[in-house]
Amino acid sequence: MITLRHVSHNFGPHWALKNISLDVCKGDFLFLVGPSGAGKTTLLRLLHGAIPLQRGQASVAGFDLQTLTSRNVHRLRREVSVVFQDFKILPERTVFANVALALEVRNMPRPHTERRVRAVLRGLDLEAKAQNLCAELSGGEQQRVAVARAVVVGPQLLLADEPTGNLDRELAMRLMSIFLQFHAHGSTIILATHNQEILSCLPTAKILHLEDGSVAWANWSLSDTE
Ligand SMILES: Nc1ncnc2c1ncn2[C@@H]1O[C@H](COP(=O)(O)OP(=O)(O)O)[C@@H](O)[C@H]1O
Ligand SMILES: [Mg+2]
Repeated sequence: MITLRHVSHNFGPHWALKNISLDVCKGDFLFLVGPSGAGKTTLLRLLHGAIPLQRGQASVAGFDLQTLTSRNVHRLRREVSVVFQDFKILPERTVFANVALALEVRNMPRPHTERRVRAVLRGLDLEAKAQNLCAELSGGEQQRVAVARAVVVGPQLLLADEPTGNLDRELAMRLMSIFLQFHAHGSTIILATHNQEILSCLPTAKILHLEDGSVAWANWSLSDTE
């Protein structure tokens, strides 16, 4: 699903990623951990084409990031969904409208959109809130809307950037159980967190620990693939 080889990224004089190599297979769950400023968000942004590949080789969901341009990045985004730390949902629109938008921009026929959105809202226990404005929701509910919007398109790969960062422990654990359900259904997931406790939710997951842009340690080896 993802292959990175010797990927580095700089913002001016500052190297946010230094020589990262990584393999993620279809169906993997990868935790991206490390302190604030370690490069987690930069790595996720690179993986969905929000920032260009500067150095190294990278392929994501069958797309070579070296040949990705602003004109074809939408094709990658069809396969890769993101749950942003600050949700990025539209507060003045309803829950239904926020989730449906992800399908409307893909020109999905209306009846199909309605069916899919209802099914996802049901799965995330948001059905009763479908017609509420997002501004009226609690933080935990807004977070679930962000997850609903990401998964409704049936992405090959789901990226989540500290999705439990603003939640209390109970809500964080509920959200994790939702990610684990998607994983159990075969989704490939990368979840960035600086909360070590989250890792205990899935002891079999791969872990990549970033520190100051470098891989500090990983619980698997690339030696088989290099
Ligand atoms: N757009 C940007 N411009 C300049 N520096 C940036 C930018 N984005 C991130 N950085 C820097 O890159 C480093 C890694 O940031 P980031 O990927 O956001 O880390 P994390 O998500 O692990 O907290 C930090 O030192 C940060 O200040
Ligand atoms: Mg970050």
